[in-house]
Amino acid sequence: MKICIIGGTGFVGTHLITTLVSQGHSIKVITRRPERHRHLRTLPTVKIVDIDFFGNKILERQIDTYDVVINLAGILNPSGANTFELVHEKVALRIAEATKAVGTPRLLHMSALNADENASSDYLRSKGRAQKKILAIDGLYVTTFSPSVIFGEADSFFNRFAQLLKIMPGIFPLTCASARFAPIYIGDVVDAFINSIDNTDTYGKNYNLCGPESFSLKELVQYTAGQINSRCTIMSLNRFFSKPLAQFMGLFPGAPITLDNYKSMSVDSVCSDEAQSAANTELDLELRSIESIVPQYLGGKDFSGKMDYFRAKSRR
Ligand SMILES: NC(=O)c1ccc[n+]([C@@H]2O[C@H](COP(=O)([O-])OP(=O)(O)OC[C@H]3O[C@@H](n4cnc5c(N)ncnc54)[C@H](OP(=O)(O)O)[C@@H]3O)[C@@H](O)[C@H]2O)c1
Repeated sequence: MKICIIGGTGFVGTHLITTLVSQGHSIKVITRRPERHRHLRTLPTVKIVDIDFFGNKILERQIDTYDVVINLAGILNPSGANTFELVHEKVALRIAEATKAVGTPRLLHMSALNADENASSDYLRSKGRAQKKILAIDGLYVTTFSPSVIFGEADSFFNRFAQLLKIMPGIFPLTCASARFAPIYIGDVVDAFINSIDNTDTYGKNYNLCGPESFSLKELVQYTAGQINSRCTIMSLNRFFSKPLAQFMGLFPGAPITLDNYKSMSVDSVCSDEAQSAANTELDLELRSIESIVPQYLGGKDFSGKMDYFRAKSRR
C-alpha cells in the first residue's frame, strides 16, 4: 500500500513508520524540516518531502495516487507562529479536505483523549473542534483516534520524568499529582492505526485509546523514580500551589508544565469501560502493561508487579 503521513517524524510517527515499512508498505513523510530526520531516511521505502500545506493544490499533488493519508501533526505547547489553531485545526482540516478532493480512499486522524470543543484547555479545545469537523465531512472515509498518554521507547512521558528526577535535589514538587492517566503502549497505538485501515466498520468513528490500567500522576512518577533508582521524595502540590506554579513555569521555553497543560490535566485522561472494550474488540488490540515495557527502556531493574506497591505508597 502507498501511505502518506503528515506529522510522521515524531515519537508516534517513527514507531508507526518503522512497523509499516517492515510490512512492506511504501511511505511518504511530509515534514517542515526534512534535514532533521535522518533516522527515517535510513529506512527503505520511505520518501521524505517538505511542502507548503497551503500552497495552491500542492498538498493534493503529494497525496494523489496514495491509498491512505495519516495525520499525526500535533503540538503540546504552541511556539511562535506554530499555534494550536494552526496545527490542530487549519493544517488538519486542510489535510482532510485535500484527501477528499483527490479521492484518496482513507484518512486516519490523530486526536487526543478528552478532545472537546468546550474543554477549558486550548490544546483539547483545538483537537476537539478539528475532530468534530473532520468526522462530519461527507464522503470521507475517516477514523479518528484519541489516546491517553502514550508510552514506549523515546516517549516524552516516562523519559521526561526520569530526566527531571535525575536533576532534582532530593525533593520533586509535583503539580496535578492526583490527575489520572491510562497510559497506552505505542505498539498498541500502532496496531490500532494499522488494524483500522481496511476495516470498514471503523469508518466515521472515533476511538478512545487507553492502556489496561489507570494510575495517578504521582503513582506514575513514583514508578519512574523506582525504575531509575532515584531517591527523590515526590511532593504533591495542592491546587493552591499547582496552578500558579504551572503558570509561572509556562513562561519559560521548554517548560515541564504550562497553565494549559494544567487545565488539560483537570479532566482525568482515562477511558470508560464501554469505550475501552469497543476499541479493543473493533481494533483487535491486546494491550500491554507499563510493567512489561517501561523497564526495557528506562534501564532500571525489573519492577514487574510493583505498581500495587507504588499505588499504596502514594495513598499514604
Ligand atoms: N505522545 C502522546 O502521549 C500523545 C497522546 C495523545 C495524543 N497525541 C497526539 O499524537 C500525535 C503525535 O504525537 P507525538 O508524540 O508523535 O508528537 P511529536 O513527537 O511532537 O511529533 C509531532 C509531529 O507534528 C508535526 N508538526 C508540528 N507542527 C506542525 C505544523 N505546523 N505542520 C505540520 N506538522 C507539524 C511535526 O512534524 P515536523 O516537525 O517534521 O514538520 C512532528 O512530526 C500528535 O497529534 C499528538 O497531539 C500524542
